[in-house]
Amino acid sequence: MDFLDSLVIPQSPDNLILIKFLLGLSWLLLIPFVSVLLGITTYSIYMNRKGISEDDQLIISVSNSIIEIITKHKIAWFVLGIIPLLSIGFSYVQLLQGLATGISLYIVVALFLFIDCTILIFAYQYAFKLKGLFDKVDSGMFNTDGVDEDSKRDIGDYRKRLGSLYSTASKIGVICLIITVYLLAVVIDVSYNTSSWNGASLLNKMFSLGIIFNFIQFISAAFAAGSIVVLYYFYRNNSNYKIENAEAANTVRNYSLVISIVFLLVQPILIVLKIMVLPHAALSYHVFLLGVINLSVVFLLVHLVYRMLQDRSLNYSSSLLFVLIFFFTFTVLGDQISFATAAKKQDNVLQKEYEAYAVELDKKLGLGEIVVNGEEVYTRVCSACHQFDKVVVGPAHKDVLPKYEGKMDDLVAYILDPVKVDPKFTVMPKQAINKEEAEAVAAHLMELYNSKK
Ligand code: HEC
Repeated sequence: MDFLDSLVIPQSPDNLILIKFLLGLSWLLLIPFVSVLLGITTYSIYMNRKGISEDDQLIISVSNSIIEIITKHKIAWFVLGIIPLLSIGFSYVQLLQGLATGISLYIVVALFLFIDCTILIFAYQYAFKLKGLFDKVDSGMFNTDGVDEDSKRDIGDYRKRLGSLYSTASKIGVICLIITVYLLAVVIDVSYNTSSWNGASLLNKMFSLGIIFNFIQFISAAFAAGSIVVLYYFYRNNSNYKIENAEAANTVRNYSLVISIVFLLVQPILIVLKIMVLPHAALSYHVFLLGVINLSVVFLLVHLVYRMLQDRSLNYSSSLLFVLIFFFTFTVLGDQISFATAAKKQDNVLQKEYEAYAVELDKKLGLGEIVVNGEEVYTRVCSACHQFDKVVVGPAHKDVLPKYEGKMDDLVAYILDPVKVDPKFTVMPKQAINKEEAEAVAAHLMELYNSKK
């Protein structure tokens, strides 16, 4: 992605801090969002399959309600998915400029996959709805007396096609999402794995223990998050979206609780494994601290789910979601601190580059060292009292300069700090000029004197 690198300009240290902040914020939006998407989509597909195999219309309709959680607000896909992805790409290109990390390539591919999965998941949801409608027509719920045989056949035909469309769309959609998640895991790992910044082949960068642990953590967090969002969506106290049928509601409740506890229970292992394989350059005291904090957050989550399972209550649906946000925040924070630690050297390089760039830019804009012009200073300051060969307020230069021949320093000293010399004149007042200007004007006078000798 060389074209992206060519967009990069060196940034001031202040801007770099801002970009890091933007990067952290973007991850903080993207990771939970993609996790929930993956969790909810697989949940909905699973329920759908179950409904079809058990021929249970209630479960099928619940599966539809579940997918609607994520397809209802289309703008979210843009604000929480595409924009953060773009800004993550932009930030890394700036922060890791000059290094062959391959991150921009991964991000561009992830972006395309994410757009594909968006289209497919929406196709799944629409096809799902339409098929439901066709099912009703086919099952004779509507009066089809006036409809000719051809149209009836068409309806049956489309019903089947919609069935295969939505199952294909959902499968490919989930696969796209999983690959996107893998690429994001790669990006996170490459960001703090200095050994993959230069030299390492693309393939080498794409497989490492760190990436695999990142990926498994992401996927398992996704399943847990999907279930927790379902619990929040249908079962929080003031929810508008209740599952009407008690039996279906019960099934969904149990599934969600069991799935979330299972996938939460693998988190502690992954948190520890991730820290264990962290490259040396990315290790810091803060990473350990955040790891410990996150372990307690996970235990709190497990505890809440466990209480809900035990009490057969759903009291904690809202708190669960709330604590889950902390889990994601600490995870993202840990990754970003690892990145910041690993990138310290790179920060110095960037700062040097910026300084060089700033000097270059100043020169281009004519803001470099200001060259003092002696003649200009003379006309501005001295010409009020002096002329070269005529006495004005002060003596003519041609009369006083001979004694300064070869004594530039004395001349400069006099100009800067005049003393009483000739009784015919009053003392020369001290002029408001600096050393550079005095030197320039002295050189100018001497040059003039020599040229007229
Ligand atoms: C307000 C009037 C005034 C201005 C402005 C002024 N001078 Fe003078 N300058 C004088 C006077 C009066 C003397 C004579 C002083 C004396 O002999 O003691 C003098 C003397 C000098 C002498 C001779 C010193 C010597 O050793 O005999 C030099 C050289 C000189 N000025 C240079 C400058 C330069 C260069 C500037 C501009 C940066 C300047 N002057 C600005 C009034 C002025």
